[in-house]
Amino acid sequence: MKVVLAEHAGACYGVQRALDMAVAAAGEGEGASTLGPLIHNPQVVAELEARGVRAVEGPDDVERGAVIIRSHGVTPAVRRAVVARDLPLIDATCPHVARAQKAAAELARRCGRVVVVGEEGHPEVEGLVAHAREAGGEVVVVASPADLPAHLEAPVGIVVQTTQTREALDAIVAELEARGIQPEVKNTICFATRQRQEAAAALADKVDAIVVIGGRNSSNTTRLADICAAACPRTHHIESPEEIDPTWFAGCFTVGVTAGASTPEVQISAVVARLEALEG
Ligand code: F3S
Repeated sequence: MKVVLAEHAGACYGVQRALDMAVAAAGEGEGASTLGPLIHNPQVVAELEARGVRAVEGPDDVERGAVIIRSHGVTPAVRRAVVARDLPLIDATCPHVARAQKAAAELARRCGRVVVVGEEGHPEVEGLVAHAREAGGEVVVVASPADLPAHLEAPVGIVVQTTQTREALDAIVAELEARGIQPEVKNTICFATRQRQEAAAALADKVDAIVVIGGRNSSNTTRLADICAAACPRTHHIESPEEIDPTWFAGCFTVGVTAGASTPEVQISAVVARLEALEG
């Protein structure tokens, strides 16, 4: 059985950077705390905890050590709360997210009204909304044109949650244009998600079975599994190599492997090794 890894799979630049920063902090002094789980990956979160990096809800829950801001960033108020407690701050906000936060504030200052294209309640979106509001903007979060308020006047600025699709952005811009509003668009989409989805779809098309690695609570991994299942009925979403059942691959010549943006390289290698061992 041949094992083929998707061309783009696993931890994106921002997640890997945050992981590296957390691991480095684990070895220092009193350890560290992350504001919420660092990534949607229970194995990694448990491993970090064992090394002294705890996940807490907010700055008030931190007892000692440094505070790590996750890759999807925080609101200015949360950042101020950390600074007010005089705790060392490790800012692992992904640079792409930081750019989107800056764009949200700039648009708020220039246009006064900001449309955030994204998933209401997602921590990254909460950060974008708060950055725009702090800069004096009126903000609305929309996932599709149907979410746009009936009355919206120009000027309108648009900023996008980094994991959104180009299609979602285009549909919202088209709706505003149809209403005679020419929005100022800051396209802050990061292509890591799209690259992983396209690579997964291409691979699922070519293999007899495919294994998708990542937290069951990770929405980007679940989305990858859905994309794979559409092309390859023998799709299996797992969190760790121990879950692999050799009977899944009966009669298979090739098996594909892909992984969500919150799956570190070490987990992917472990799954590939286990699958390759099945050959013998
Ligand atoms: Fe950053 Fe893009 Fe990953 S915004 S956290 S590199 S999905």
